[in-house]
Amino acid sequence: MTDTVMQATALQRHYNVSSGLFRSPQVLRAVGGLDFTLTPGKTLAVVGESGCGKSTLARMVAMIEEPTAGSLTLEGKEIRPEGWAELRSSVQIVFQDPYGSLNPRQRIGTILQEPLVINHPELSREERETKAREMLKLVGLRPEHFDRYPHMFSGGQRQRIAVARALMLDPKVLVLDEPVSALDLSIQSAILNLIMELQERLQLAYLFISHDLSVVRHIADDVIVMYLGRAVEKGPKEQVFEAPRHPYTRALLSATPRAEPNAAKERIKLTGELPSPLAIPDGCPFAPRCWKVQARCRAEVPQLEGEPHGAACFFPDGVGEDQ
Ligand SMILES: Nc1ncnc2c1ncn2[C@@H]1O[C@H](COP(=O)(O)OP(=O)(O)OP(=O)(O)O)[C@@H](O)[C@H]1O
Ligand SMILES: [Mg+2]
Repeated sequence: MTDTVMQATALQRHYNVSSGLFRSPQVLRAVGGLDFTLTPGKTLAVVGESGCGKSTLARMVAMIEEPTAGSLTLEGKEIRPEGWAELRSSVQIVFQDPYGSLNPRQRIGTILQEPLVINHPELSREERETKAREMLKLVGLRPEHFDRYPHMFSGGQRQRIAVARALMLDPKVLVLDEPVSALDLSIQSAILNLIMELQERLQLAYLFISHDLSVVRHIADDVIVMYLGRAVEKGPKEQVFEAPRHPYTRALLSATPRAEPNAAKERIKLTGELPSPLAIPDGCPFAPRCWKVQARCRAEVPQLEGEPHGAACFFPDGVGEDQ
């Protein structure tokens, strides 16, 4: 596909964690090999429970952390740590916490201009300021906000500022790691709508991370469902939500309230606990909690198969039902 801006192939991140003075370090498999592409103007959402590796993925894509295996390419060029400095302006990140991510001692105007000071020293002060003021307007803030400090803003406004700062260098890819999870429900949709409008206008490729399926349903074009660092299901949003194939996806969806009250739905209650990423079960990682489990599931690892909609399951639901 010609309009792919970023491609991840078998992207992996393991951590060596020491578990005591006399024990050898253990390997924590935070992200176990992900494949995906990001496209201008489109949103790939990654959804999964706490600890499944979403933020680790975000940090790798945003060039904050190096993958332990696999590759990432940006416009066909392999991203390597030696090239991070040069490529970083093309991939920007917005974090969950709008309070922690802005320097409380800097005015908004300064915060917005900082990426330009670092990356575009050729610009004059006036040029930087003009661009920062334009960006402030683009994210729905007012001119007088330019000289204010972060503490003078609400959570939603701060997240607007964080988005504005991320856009100052005209990135191609924006990684959004739970960008609305810390906000009041009443503000979430305003920020999501802003994020969607900006994508449309600037043709940005989004990697949107959330544990919240209703947010994902609102914003995604494509969805990856992660479980213990692996993609268990992947596909266009409508297909994943309307015809989920992996038992884990079905369980997640069954626990999410739906807008349509008469949508037929049985609540699936998962048994057993989420295993530790230090001890991922052999075979299918979901097997110990799966109500459809068979001997094969405990012996072999199912691969994610099927384009554009696939599930890493030996006994998926609804195969052949999508057009
Ligand atoms: N620097 C690190 N060293 C060791 N383990 C780490 C490190 N960073 C993350 N982990 C572990 O990797 C796993 C995945 O963590 P990650 O933060 O990516 O999950 P997450 O899906 O973003 O969770 P949440 O929804 O709570 O934000 C967790 O078990 C976490 O403890
Ligand atoms: Mg996280």
